[in-house]
Amino acid sequence: MNTISQSPESEVDGPRSRVQSQGVSGTPVLSLEGVARDFSDGRVVRRVLKETTLDILSGEMTVLAGPSGSGKTTLLTIMGLVLKPSTGRVVVGGEDVTGFSEDSLASIRQQRYGYVFQQAALVPALDVLDNVLVGTAIQGGRVSAQTREKAISLLSGLGMKDYLLSRPQQLSTGQQQRAGIARALVSDPILLLCDEPTSALDVESSHIVLDTLKKLSRDPRRGVVLVTHDPRVFPYADRLLKMEDGAIVYDTRQVAG
Ligand SMILES: Nc1ncnc2c1ncn2[C@@H]1O[C@H](COP(=O)(O)OP(=O)(O)OP(=O)(O)O)[C@@H](O)[C@H]1O
Ligand SMILES: [Mg+2]
Repeated sequence: MNTISQSPESEVDGPRSRVQSQGVSGTPVLSLEGVARDFSDGRVVRRVLKETTLDILSGEMTVLAGPSGSGKTTLLTIMGLVLKPSTGRVVVGGEDVTGFSEDSLASIRQQRYGYVFQQAALVPALDVLDNVLVGTAIQGGRVSAQTREKAISLLSGLGMKDYLLSRPQQLSTGQQQRAGIARALVSDPILLLCDEPTSALDVESSHIVLDTLKKLSRDPRRGVVLVTHDPRVFPYADRLLKMEDGAIVYDTRQVAG
């Protein structure tokens, strides 16, 4: 069953999702077309993600919620090009990447995607600035002065200017998370995927991180997807998706908060 077709989205904001031009807010940065995923335990094959068709648009924050086991991580890891769908097509920035090799998918992940996880997992031996640059260094060897400036500017914009040379253990968890966000952004991703980014944070840090992600989603070239259990995140969503039993059962845009 393709539940997305039952969503109120087409009435609320349908035409926007069909805007095809590049670089315009509301452009699909990622499209899933009839995507489903099966898992086998060796005896029984179970469809844990039912056939789903979904555009993730730039310029907005999409929040994906639902009970444990409903399929959120499965959907997010397919969006993240980490897990292959059993059926259906995955389209990134207008290009069908479904049949791409592991290497090609890895290079899309590095160049066009950013990931923010529950814990920032910064490298303890590196200062904040080097943590933000570590991915760039691994990919390309030397880090250009321009990339370094960009990292400093991102960290400053996230309120981390005074901590560039601090070690992760000298930061609060909220500050570590902001460093993790800067690290995800340094390659200028078109899609930022966040899995429970606030679940390890206190209320105040969690609002700071959510405000930050919300601001980042305002970039007309970038989409932000955030998976959460926490209903306190919902007011930050421009678009709220809810999953149940492997299907999206609710999909609506909210008035900006
Ligand atoms: N690698 C796997 N092999 C077999 N079954 C899996 C695998 N990954 C996930 N599943 C099953 O798919 C279903 C959805 O799992 P998923 O991790 O996507 O849920 P979730 O919504 O992210 O849950 P949570 O909120 O607990 O993180 C679950 O029933 C899970 O047992
Ligand atoms: Mg999960």
